[in-house]
Amino acid sequence: MPDSTGQPHPDRFRLETTADGSQTFFSDEFNQLFHSHFGAHQEADAKFVQVTRLAERAAHRSQITLIDICYGLGYNTAAALTTIWHINPQCRVHWYGLEADRDVPRAAIAANLLNPWPETVRQTLTDLAHAETLDRDIIQARLLIGDARQTITQLRDANLQADAIFLDPFAPPDCPQLWSVEFLTHVAHCLAPDGDLATYSCAAAVRSALIAAGLHIGSTPPIGRNTHGTAARWNPDTLTPLDRRAREHLHTRAAIPYRDPDGTDSADTLRTRRRDEQARSTLEATTRWKKRWRQPPAISTVDGVELKSEMN
Ligand SMILES: C[S@@+](CC[C@H](N)C(=O)[O-])C[C@H]1O[C@@H](n2cnc3c(N)ncnc32)[C@H](O)[C@@H]1O
Repeated sequence: MPDSTGQPHPDRFRLETTADGSQTFFSDEFNQLFHSHFGAHQEADAKFVQVTRLAERAAHRSQITLIDICYGLGYNTAAALTTIWHINPQCRVHWYGLEADRDVPRAAIAANLLNPWPETVRQTLTDLAHAETLDRDIIQARLLIGDARQTITQLRDANLQADAIFLDPFAPPDCPQLWSVEFLTHVAHCLAPDGDLATYSCAAAVRSALIAAGLHIGSTPPIGRNTHGTAARWNPDTLTPLDRRAREHLHTRAAIPYRDPDGTDSADTLRTRRRDEQARSTLEATTRWKKRWRQPPAISTVDGVELKSEMN
């Protein structure tokens, strides 16, 4: 809650320094950092901006449409705008941010966390955190405050087609509402035919939900975190295929996705529904898959074809 000056209460967000020296907040509610402890800035660049090919797009386009799901401190958008305007200072960005808590971006600004980015980006995001709507030569932006399960329907109903979507909720077991098949189906409707969706998560439940939403998925490099992230597109051409270990993961009970039929259920309800479905499932137990991949053989065979281990 803001204090009497309109600023977020200073104790609400505890600062932590990540491995690349950049700072982030710790969420008491979700009991986790807002970014990877391997590096908040590195994560924004490597897991979101590079995966959605914003530099390439900026070089050839006069407009880019971007949706940032779980805007938070604004790092992913700050990294995106920095890249786009470095390459093409005139590129007009149509930007939509979804965030439940308007205090998060305001607290980041109050703690000077946007200072490392260029002045144009910092000023744009400072104005955005307070006005929540901007209409300028190089950016048209709307920060939609509320549960992303509801705000995404505004974008879907407007038939918005984004070139890039950043999907950055807290981890699936802690925030399952934003990883369900139903939510990701709304998100997929907002992705342009040549658009890229990026997320840090490599969870089988997330990947299978993206597939259930009709998208093709690929792996993204394990920079920053010790696991790969996921890219999703309508057209698989530019995707890096999953390795065999990850493909097999999609045939285990871990790949049973979260379900949220009306988009209104609590996190507990989603977790229980998934656990019940896993208990009834005839898919391979995830513990068996884990055991199989713990000690990879140097050489294995599939259908008589010799393969080098694809273990990461
Ligand atoms: C992992 S942090 C995102 C970090 C952010 N992308 C950044 O670069 O700073 C997750 C964010 O999701 C927000 N959030 C949690 N539940 C939400 C919901 N149901 N709808 C929208 N945002 C939500 C939290 O307030 C938090 O800011």
